[in-house]
Amino acid sequence: MSDPHRRGLLAAGGALMLAGCGRQAQASGAQASGEAYDPAPSAAPRSGPVPALCELAGFPIGTCMSTGLTEDPDWSALAVRQCSQVTAEWEMKMESILKDDGGFDFSRADGIAAYARERGLRLFGHTLVWYAQNPQALQRIDGNRAAFDNAVRNYILAVVGRYRGQAVGWDVVNEAVAEHGEGLRDCIYSRNLGQEDYMLLAFRYAREADPGAVLLINDYDLEKTPAKRAIFLKLVERLLKRGAPIGGIGTQSHFDIHLQPGAARTAMRELAGLGLQIHVSEADISLRGDRMDLRPRADKLKVQAARYRELMGAFLELPAHQRFAFTTWGLRDKDSWLRRPPNAGDGTDAPLPFDDQGRPKPAFWALADALKG
Ligand code: G3I
Repeated sequence: MSDPHRRGLLAAGGALMLAGCGRQAQASGAQASGEAYDPAPSAAPRSGPVPALCELAGFPIGTCMSTGLTEDPDWSALAVRQCSQVTAEWEMKMESILKDDGGFDFSRADGIAAYARERGLRLFGHTLVWYAQNPQALQRIDGNRAAFDNAVRNYILAVVGRYRGQAVGWDVVNEAVAEHGEGLRDCIYSRNLGQEDYMLLAFRYAREADPGAVLLINDYDLEKTPAKRAIFLKLVERLLKRGAPIGGIGTQSHFDIHLQPGAARTAMRELAGLGLQIHVSEADISLRGDRMDLRPRADKLKVQAARYRELMGAFLELPAHQRFAFTTWGLRDKDSWLRRPPNAGDGTDAPLPFDDQGRPKPAFWALADALKG
């Protein structure tokens, strides 16, 4: 277990690495002036050396990962070259840690933490309380408020405590707003501990376990659905007023090429309005969507690149102290959750910056160009 001092060293190391990674990129003129900025980046493959995003950025560049990927040397080389932070895609969640008997299995989570530590990568903790995680150990005490509260507190103290000094932050509450922004989700946590009280308790327990970690609340469709973004921001304001130690907002940024140009920038500006740190926490931009799109794939890849560039450009417009990290939900298309059942569709989606072979796509060059300003 590391102490906060070690985190300081690690962070310093990370900062040194980030500093060694490169200069502070400034938003380009067009972006800085705020006018609509929607270049159609060339889809033509670029020649010459592939830059490292973490060396171009003055903030952490992250990806999600799983222990299975660490056995792939090509993936590992790409991740260590391009990134300075990792998030466990699923192995630091209850489904991986909380056993049916209420005990803990940290074997997979420790594997992620060891991989990050051995390579000097920042570790971001995802996620503590999520409506979608309904483990047997909690279902068994559903309805018994005292036992449920005790179980949630013990879980958070154990998990956050275990990675104290290494994990730089946690998604304490994930996806608390209802699907289409029509209010807050009902879930096993809200039923047992109260609609918003469960969130306040989760943040308090996480702070008790690690006084130094940045504690975030994370959600999706905050770009696509302004009504959901409004509900989300009002929730965060209420929790802050009640003393929740929220240090940041995670906007997952799972969207597709049909997102309206400008929507990502508008969302970023509104989300930044509370002055909290912002984590683009799970970015991927699907070539599919909810409508028929018969454009050639090369054209779709150009639009995808333009959306990635807008998203990174909007992130770059944030004040430096609000840029927590920019994380994509994977690096290579073939590793994406959108290529696995039940979301695989026809198996041809390509939502990430690198193709199946790990080659940079127009999306990658758009991110690199935005960072170069
Ligand atoms: O690969 C293992 C297998 O070895 C193991 O035996 C089996 C046991 O259940 O699990 C398999 O892992 C699956 C894992 O994905 C890897 O494919 C898990 O079952 C499955 O639950 C897990 O799904 C993850 C999902 O969250 C639920 O945790 C997805 O990978 C992950 O991409 C997805 O990520 C979420 C974010 O946490 C929150 N935002 C939305 C995002 C996409 O749904």
